[in-house]
Amino acid sequence: MTAPAQPSPRDRFLALVRAAFDGGTLVKLTLGKHRGADATLQNVHIRPVALQAGAHFAFVWRHATRDITKNHPPAVAIAEIERLIGGDFSDAHLFTTTQRAQLELRPDGGGRIRVLAAVAGAGAPPAGAVAHDRTKRHFIPATAPWLRALGVTNERGLPREGMADKFRQIQKFAELLTHLMEEAFPGARPSASGPQLQIADMGSGKGYLTFALAQILGDRAHVRGIEARAELVEVCNRVARESGLTHLAFAAGRIESAPAGAALDVLIALHACDTATDDALAHGVAAGAPLLVVAPCCQKELRAQLTAPPVLAEPLRHGIFQERHAEFATDALRALLLEWAGYRTKVFEFISTEHTAKNLMIAAIKVRERAAPDGELAARAREFAAFYGIRTQALARALGFSFSA
Ligand SMILES: C[S@@+](CC[C@H](N)C(=O)[O-])C[C@H]1O[C@@H](n2cnc3c(N)ncnc32)[C@H](O)[C@@H]1O
Repeated sequence: MTAPAQPSPRDRFLALVRAAFDGGTLVKLTLGKHRGADATLQNVHIRPVALQAGAHFAFVWRHATRDITKNHPPAVAIAEIERLIGGDFSDAHLFTTTQRAQLELRPDGGGRIRVLAAVAGAGAPPAGAVAHDRTKRHFIPATAPWLRALGVTNERGLPREGMADKFRQIQKFAELLTHLMEEAFPGARPSASGPQLQIADMGSGKGYLTFALAQILGDRAHVRGIEARAELVEVCNRVARESGLTHLAFAAGRIESAPAGAALDVLIALHACDTATDDALAHGVAAGAPLLVVAPCCQKELRAQLTAPPVLAEPLRHGIFQERHAEFATDALRALLLEWAGYRTKVFEFISTEHTAKNLMIAAIKVRERAAPDGELAARAREFAAFYGIRTQALARALGFSFSA
């Protein structure tokens, strides 16, 4: 796997400021800990303002006894901010519609950045809001810079042509994951003391849902996307950096060879093809992850093995029924195996079939230790496999579950 290079805290903070400017999400930027020549200057507050000349940024220079305001167009404002942060000011606090971030620089040039909160669907609209800030509130703010950078929304915070279903899927997924997290980690609260939960999204693809996870969890979690296609990993890491999502990173690699042994709290695998879903589930179970969430697709493995009872032979002449039969047998067996492995399992449609056909989700919450190999839960999985003539299956193999009693 290839690890992304880490930019400095100042660079990461400035990337976040630029993303807020570009995305129209800036509420306020304050610069503090003045160390310049003018001893009367205390801090600078920067806000967007809508002027007749177009969008500008008001800089309020706060001195001990007076305030001086200057308005700058975006390019000048950004250049001024770059000059001031790490120059005359060593602290900066950014407030956007989606997050808060704080930069603290030390005299030796080092420092740290903290993303203090990611607020789902909330946040004050920027002062002097312009047209694109009056868009509908969503679970993930439609103006989130990464949604735009990934081509889901336009500069007005509206879904681009052909992306409305993806936008809806992202919102639904964020809502669903929030509820599942509350169920799996009751009482967990956001903390400013650094990442707590380790989250892996396997087969993260273009990263839409990985970004959604990082957005809703903020600094409660370190989110890692794992994806076979290196070019997608590169794009996702760049967008994560530019959006200031410091707890999100992507690595190029294959699910089946993801290194074992690392702590893992939540395993996600959405639309990872065929047995890649089983590899991801097995990885999560082996790590003892309290929450597993998968949306399987292309359930091909069992097709050749399935023997239908005689009464189903005639309907199963039809290819579409064969396909659905294999999907059902595969996912039902996965759910039974997860129950045996110690998880309470739910299977449901996570978004209407109107928007995507690949909408089945299996969510599993760890509630006990793995059951006995000859107990009731094992017997249920074996009886099911026997009914369908299943002799071998990827998740069963990975978990060391035998279909013969
Ligand atoms: C259909 S896309 C889904 C992407 C994303 N999870 C989503 O739902 O939007 C499946 C992704 O999984 C990746 N993938 C499939 N098998 C994989 C494997 N064994 N290891 C790593 N990535 C894999 C593919 O390259 C692809 O980008």
